[in-house]
Amino acid sequence: KFKTPSGHALKAQKGQDPIVCLTAYTTPMARLVDKHCDVVLVGDSVGMVLHGFESTLSVTMEMMILHGQAVRRGVEQALLVVDMPFGSYEHNKEQAFENAARLMRETGCEAVKLEGGAHMAETIAYLTQRGIPVMGHIGLTPQSVKAMGGYSVQGRGDDHQRILEDAKAVQDAGAFAIVLEMVTEPLANEITALLEIPTIGIGASVQCDGQILVVDDLLGLFSSFKPKFVKRYAELADQADDAIAHYAKEVRARTFPTLDHVYQAKKKS
Ligand code: KIV
Ligand code: NA
Repeated sequence: KFKTPSGHALKAQKGQDPIVCLTAYTTPMARLVDKHCDVVLVGDSVGMVLHGFESTLSVTMEMMILHGQAVRRGVEQALLVVDMPFGSYEHNKEQAFENAARLMRETGCEAVKLEGGAHMAETIAYLTQRGIPVMGHIGLTPQSVKAMGGYSVQGRGDDHQRILEDAKAVQDAGAFAIVLEMVTEPLANEITALLEIPTIGIGASVQCDGQILVVDDLLGLFSSFKPKFVKRYAELADQADDAIAHYAKEVRARTFPTLDHVYQAKKKS
């Protein structure tokens, strides 16, 4: 029987098992994450986390494809989703289709994710009607950081009703799941109860149908800044710093390499 992870199967998880999602940008990290997750996302956060960009706005299709291909080689069982980068889908639905199809064709991912609520509904419907599974993303949408004037909590004021309507519009357009980023906890709970598709929270609520984090954040590998919603399950950057300092010290003291790490002219028998 031919079976592949699908957004359809993920939808059935709502109300059953929480959906475990993490990002990955490279093959080795994808292998680590795939083992434990239902969804692996090649997020456009790759621009900030691996390339040192100040925001996700400079991320290109080429970057998403290259990282998508790397992650594809490490994902065997989870659903693989690739982010559509800024500027690759907003112009019109035809542009969105071409770029989404290219991401799927060149990376072998199962679905794409794009940011935006009601104003993206027509585009999401166009893609989903043409065979492209779409994950939505509303609340804080980092690709709009310049327009929003920063990264702040969503849904505390008049925007509460608009975000509810965004969630409904994304669902009605055919998305199989929706990321809720940095929306207030009561709003995340309200959306989760309202929608039939799973909600995936990041800085949202434990009642969401699933959770996602940037894996480098949870490992303590990315430390430019730490939003409140990040829980560090390890401090790998500190361990890396210790290891590198130790290496540097040994090189300067000529205590590395030892005879264990070098080659003699003749192999001893
Ligand atoms: O780019 C990303 O990593 C994301 C998730 C954290 C939702 O969009
Ligand atoms: Na993203």
